[in-house]
Order: sequence, then C-alpha cells, then structure tokens
Amino acid sequence: MKPRNVKRLALAAALAGLVSAGNAADLAPLPEPKFNAAMAEMGKYLFFDERLSGDAALSCATCHNPQKGWSDGLPLSKAYPASEYFRNSPTILNAGFKKRFMWDGRLDGSDAGTLVRDMITEAHTMNMDARLMQERLKQVPEYNEMWLKFRKDDINGMRVFNVVGEFFKSIVSKNAPIDKFLKGDQSALNSTQREGYELFKGKANCVSCHNGPLGSDGNLHRTGVPENPEVTKDPLRHITMARHYSTSGLPNYMNTHEDVGFQAISKNPKDKGKFATPSIRDLKYTAPYMHNGMFRTLDEVVEFYSKGGGAGSELKPLNLSDYEKRALVAFLLEGLSGDPVIVEKPKLPAYKVRAFGKN
Ligand code: HEC
Ligand code: HEC
Repeated sequence: MKPRNVKRLALAAALAGLVSAGNAADLAPLPEPKFNAAMAEMGKYLFFDERLSGDAALSCATCHNPQKGWSDGLPLSKAYPASEYFRNSPTILNAGFKKRFMWDGRLDGSDAGTLVRDMITEAHTMNMDARLMQERLKQVPEYNEMWLKFRKDDINGMRVFNVVGEFFKSIVSKNAPIDKFLKGDQSALNSTQREGYELFKGKANCVSCHNGPLGSDGNLHRTGVPENPEVTKDPLRHITMARHYSTSGLPNYMNTHEDVGFQAISKNPKDKGKFATPSIRDLKYTAPYMHNGMFRTLDEVVEFYSKGGGAGSELKPLNLSDYEKRALVAFLLEGLSGDPVIVEKPKLPAYKVRAFGKN
C-alpha cells in the first residue's frame, strides 16, 4: 500500500473511533546512548573486576556475561556464595533506556548509580562494603589515573557506583533489523518477519505493552507466568526471597511461597503477580525468558500468549494458528535482535600499595 493510502486509512479509522490511544502505540528505533566516555572506560574495568565483591570472587560479568547476552543463561540467577537467587538475571543490553529497573520495577531507571549500589552492596549479590571497596580501588595506581580523567579528587566509594552505571549505559544493541525497518528500509525484515510484526501490532496486540524503543511500556502487568518450583524446593533460593520480602516489609511474608512481584513493593494485594514489562530486544541471546526463566524458547512464550497467559492474567486468548505462531517467533527472534555485542574482559591492573607521605 502507498504511504498516502495508509495515512488515509488511518485517518478514516481514527474518525470512526476505531483507533484508541493504546492501539496507536508502536515500536520505535533505539536512540543514541548518552554517557560520559571517560567514566564508562573506567567502568568497563570495574564491571569485570572481582575485587568489587566481598570475597573478590564475583564481578558484574558473572551474572551479566557478554558471551551470554549480558545475562548468565540460567533460569534463576546465581548469587553470592552460600546464597542462590529467586529470579532470572536480566540482560543489561539497553538497560540505560529503561524506565524502571528490576523485574518488580522497584528501582528508578533514571538512577543507574542506585542500581549499581544495590548490586554491589546487597548481601545476596556482591556483598561488598562501599568503604572497603573504596580503599581497595585506591590501592590500584591505574584506577587512580583513570579517575583523574573525570574528577579532581580521590576515588570515592559512592561515586564509583555512577562510574559503573556510565559503563552499562554504553552497552546497546547494534544493527537490529527493526531499527533499519523503522527508519525506512523495507527489506530489513523478510516477509515472514513482516507478517510477525503485523500480528504483533494487530491480532496479537503485543504492542499494547511492548512498545517504544525497548518494546516496553515501563509499566507493571500480570501475565500469570507459572511459579518456578525451584524457588520453593531450594532452601537457598527461598531464603533470598524471604529476605527480599522481610526487607520490603511485606506483611505475613513467612507464609508467602510464591513470587508476588510488585506487591512486595506497593503492599497492595491488587499488585500481586505484577512484573515490569521487559525489553524484547536481542531475545536471540537472552533465553531463558520471564522473571523466573520458566520458558526456554520463544515458541513456549508465544504458545503461552496464544492461550491467554496463565492464572489470573490480564490477557485474552489469541488462538493463533501454527503459521501465525511461527511468524511471530521469526519476528521476535530475528527481527528484534541485532549483532552480538561483545566486550572482552580487560587485563585488570594489580594492587600496589600507595607510597607513604605522597597522598
Ligand atoms: C550474583 C548475580 C549478579 C551480580 C554479581 C550482579 N547482578 Fe545485576 N542483576 C542480577 C539479578 C538477579 C537482577 C534482577 C533482580 C530482581 O529483579 O529482583 C539484576 C538486575 C540488574 C539490572 C537491572 C536490569 C533490568 O532489566 O531491570 C542491571 C542494570 C544490573 N543488574 C547491573 C549490574 C551491575 C552493573 C553489576 C555489577 C556492579 C551487577 N548487576 C551484578 C544479578 C546480578
Ligand atoms: C499486558 C501486557 C503485555 C502484553 C499484552 C504482552 N506482554 Fe509480553 N511481557 C509482559 C510482562 C509483564 C512480561 C514479564 C512477565 C514475567 O516475567 O513474569 C512479559 C514478558 C515477555 C517476554 C520475555 C522477555 C524476557 O526477556 O524474558 C517476551 C518474549 C514477551 N513478553 C513477548 C510478548 C509477545 C510476543 C506478546 C504478544 C503475543 C506479548 N509479550 C504481550 C507484558 C505483556
């Protein structure tokens, strides 16, 4: 169809009151990332540096591994030794564009420093004391030099969090077919992928939640993903969940044996089972899917949506044909995934005790 005819049709539909605000939503090209280059360069070293964790055994890359789509490839995330986590480790690709961080949306997406502080200081992730981290980093001469490229003072624990934040803001998708397509290159999606995109926007209406540059409205929704039985079977995972509930102040948490999602944050029973809409870019690299890794493939994800989601979901059955399911998967898998984004672990500079009297 010629663009002018499409416009006319859209206008006619709008006049007929058929296009609601929700249906007007669409995916959008990824914007250019904004970050401080000198901070991001130091942040790259710190991202891979195990000395940022209490026992110097874990780095951010342990759970957000570039070779595994900046996640860890596991259904449920690892945690600090002697713990296990109760949710999936999300990719950090394009995380700098998120409105909310974490599966339950508990952190503000515009505050990367606070997110990094949580990751480094929480007992179940890196279990590190910010003051100890500061003194460790000050004993690495190369880190002091990198620091002076963007600040005139000594390495400061609280500001280190922002430095790591600037690095992850620089990790963005490259050359995704959808971006070329949205910028006018019709050949960027093949015909099956294009049919998938039409379903995504039309019959399947995925776009009502998965829209904008990330394919996320940044809001919380209940899709009814089944519980991962490992969380209640494995005491170490259950302990971490209970600890999350107790620090959030969830009433009666000792009798809560499921992941209540946003309810633990809002304390409103209406929010039970609500999770933040994730980005759907680069799905090719980030299986398994959902907050608890319950789906290994996109076929399983699409099957789930076709049936109208799980118990208590706000979705309606779509009854997609086998062909429609395949087209949707082709669009999700290939149309929305760019080239692999790989950053190699840099050679980490060693400790060297600072000379006395020269500080
Ligand atoms: C032991 C594993 C582990 C380590 C180490 C770790 N993370 Fe995470 N990260 C997670 C998990 C699990 C979540 C999701 C937690 C949740 O939703 O409850 C997460 C969430 C995030 C998010 C939010 C992503 C989103 O889509 O909401 C970002 C960004 C992030 N981590 C960056 C980092 C950085 C930077 C470091 C190093 C300072 C780090 N992580 C260290 C496991 C880890
Ligand atoms: C009502 C809002 C809503 C609609 C409609 C919706 N989703 Fe989702 N989607 C979500 C939420 C919320 C999650 C996270 C759920 C969870 O982890 O428990 C999610 C997760 C996903 C994931 C997993 C991403 C990852 O990294 O783990 C994929 C893929 C996905 N949706 C694709 C689709 C497709 C395809 C459709 C249309 C058939 C669709 N969604 C419709 C809200 C929605």
